Amino acid sequence: MLELRQLCKTLPGTPPRVLFDCLSLRVEAGECVAIVGESGVGKSTLLNCIAGLEPIDGGEILVGPSRIDRLDDDAMARLRRSHFGFVFQAFHILPHLDLLQNVALPLWLLGESEAAAVERARAMLARVGLGGRAGDPPQQLSGGELQRVAIARALVHRPHLVLADEPTGNLDPGRAADVLDLLLGQIRDSRAAGVLVTHSRAAAARADRVLELRADGIHDITGRA
Ligand SMILES: Nc1ncnc2c1ncn2[C@@H]1O[C@H](COP(=O)(O)OP(=O)(O)OP(=O)(O)O)[C@@H](O)[C@H]1O
Ligand SMILES: [Mg+2]
Repeated sequence: MLELRQLCKTLPGTPPRVLFDCLSLRVEAGECVAIVGESGVGKSTLLNCIAGLEPIDGGEILVGPSRIDRLDDDAMARLRRSHFGFVFQAFHILPHLDLLQNVALPLWLLGESEAAAVERARAMLARVGLGGRAGDPPQQLSGGELQRVAIARALVHRPHLVLADEPTGNLDPGRAADVLDLLLGQIRDSRAAGVLVTHSRAAAARADRVLELRADGIHDITGRA
């Protein structure tokens, strides 16, 4: 479903820094893989590379049978919009839209009717415990609440690939468990591929496999995290 073949990424600088060298990874449909690793090792960069938000220096990225690393910017943007759900480490909630509009936005961009988009966005906000806050501006939300809006927005269009960067980093254990239920439940139900970057052992333990990204490569540490 998602396959990385021999992915290479070097950061420019003097000297240049190799972030990953020949990194290979396969995530099946309905599977969620957790990626852990020290701060600065390149986890967010890896997600950005998969999503086409950062260039790679070598290797191949496949979603289903198709290579996506050679798509032009427009084609990549269309693919992201319709098939990817990205929870950014820094949320990226749009400040000029209320919560409902933020969550409905992916559906509007895909051409869904106003009424259908609003209905699904409302249901999604309720799933993350923010059903009563739909009309609020993002400025009035706590970090954990914004994180839940970001998760609702990433899942509302039922993407085939879910890339989540620290989706529970700002949540208390109870909320974190609820959000993981939602994230993992949807990945399994819609046979999506999920990549969950996390510093939380509890969150990593919920994934099907746990991989550790280190300077010397990616290692399966399932059961040892
Ligand atoms: N655009 C950039 N230009 C130069 N260096 C960058 C750029 N983006 C990231 N880096 C560097 O790349 C390294 C990896 O960053 P990245 O954000 O991927 O780490 P991370 O594993 O997600 O860390 P954290 O757990 O703190 O979120 C860091 O050393 C960072 O400073
Ligand atoms: Mg990061």
